[in-house]
Amino acid sequence: MKTAIVYASVHHGNTKKVIDAMVKGYEVDLIDAAKDADRDLSSYDLIGFASGIYYSKFHASVLDYIAEKLPENKDIFFVCTKGAGSKFKLPKSAEEALEGKNPNIKGGYSCKGYDTFGPFKLIGGLAKGHPDASELEEARKFFEKLYKGL
Ligand SMILES: Cc1cc2nc3c(=O)[nH]c(=O)nc-3n(C[C@H](O)[C@H](O)[C@H](O)COP(=O)(O)O)c2cc1C
Repeated sequence: MKTAIVYASVHHGNTKKVIDAMVKGYEVDLIDAAKDADRDLSSYDLIGFASGIYYSKFHASVLDYIAEKLPENKDIFFVCTKGAGSKFKLPKSAEEALEGKNPNIKGGYSCKGYDTFGPFKLIGGLAKGHPDASELEEARKFFEKLYKGL
């Protein structure tokens, strides 16, 4: 199954750590949306979109991929890391970008990610040490289940 993950991980590389743990042992193309904005996604059977959460949104480069490059009717999934909270919830920004794409959303994984944005830096940051080993293992299991279930 041809698989890609389009990601942006611009703060501390937290999201990249998570997706690296997820795809270990699988052949998955990792597309850094902030650096490579023009990849064709049409040949992929499964596409993940992964991002830190910035001002409650996915990174603009990932949202642009969803809006401009995601073909209709694809199997997709989401990954995010954030400073506060760990439960996965699809941000409204991603929902809007998906309009008209009729995707099959296979799931989402989220965990905490070290956050030194703005005033949090003064208190040593939020979610220090995250993603941690257990979150990376959960991420690996999430992807394994998703991939094998298709
Ligand atoms: C500019 C900026 C805005 C952020 N906004 C939020 C936010 O709205 N909610 C949240 O929980 N975390 C927020 N964070 C924390 C990041 O989501 C968190 O550190 C994430 O793990 C960063 O992922 P990355 O290292 O892959 O870029 C923000 C961080 C930055 C730098």
